[in-house]
Amino acid sequence: MPAHITSNTGLDALTHCVEAYVSNIEDNYADVLAKGGLEIVFDNLEEAVNNPTNIKARQNMHDASFMGGLAFNNAWLGIVHSLSHQVGALYGIPHGAANAIFLPNVIRYNQTETTRYPNLAKIVGKETAEELAQEIEKLRASVNNNGSLKAFGISREDWDKNLDYITKNALEDPCTGFNPRKPSFQDLKDLYNACYEGVVYQN
Ligand SMILES: [Fe+2]
Repeated sequence: MPAHITSNTGLDALTHCVEAYVSNIEDNYADVLAKGGLEIVFDNLEEAVNNPTNIKARQNMHDASFMGGLAFNNAWLGIVHSLSHQVGALYGIPHGAANAIFLPNVIRYNQTETTRYPNLAKIVGKETAEELAQEIEKLRASVNNNGSLKAFGISREDWDKNLDYITKNALEDPCTGFNPRKPSFQDLKDLYNACYEGVVYQN
């Protein structure tokens, strides 16, 4: 795979691990696979992107991707995917690239309703949900991924025109029902606007 597909799919795998771990379905198998997959992504993604001949790093990313897939097959996903599905369909933003933009701000949004993020933060040597969000932002930058939707060339006018439509669809996405915090229409709209600009979401 070329570098951008390695990074996008790797960040999608990371998102599967995080969303499955905090979903409102409790599942011991998903928990172990999600934590293990997340650790492998943090340890190998940058290497797999920057040194494409490192087959061990690529094998590790393959394994992490599969583990994340098993985790979300048991425990579903959350609103990162609900938000991402819409901008993928409407604007053609690659799925993993979109997830990597939404994931840190969704962690900030969800942290009021779940105590699970610090367990994932510990795996990357940190303590809090906010620190986990920041580590994901650093990993995203290290593999040359955008931190905003507008970086994909979406004009403000076009964004404003479609925002209510994609927000309504995201609210109705099946993944929304498994998110640890039940969002309102306005919550998702606020998350979309923060991620359009690439700024920190404020609860
Ligand atoms: Fe995904």
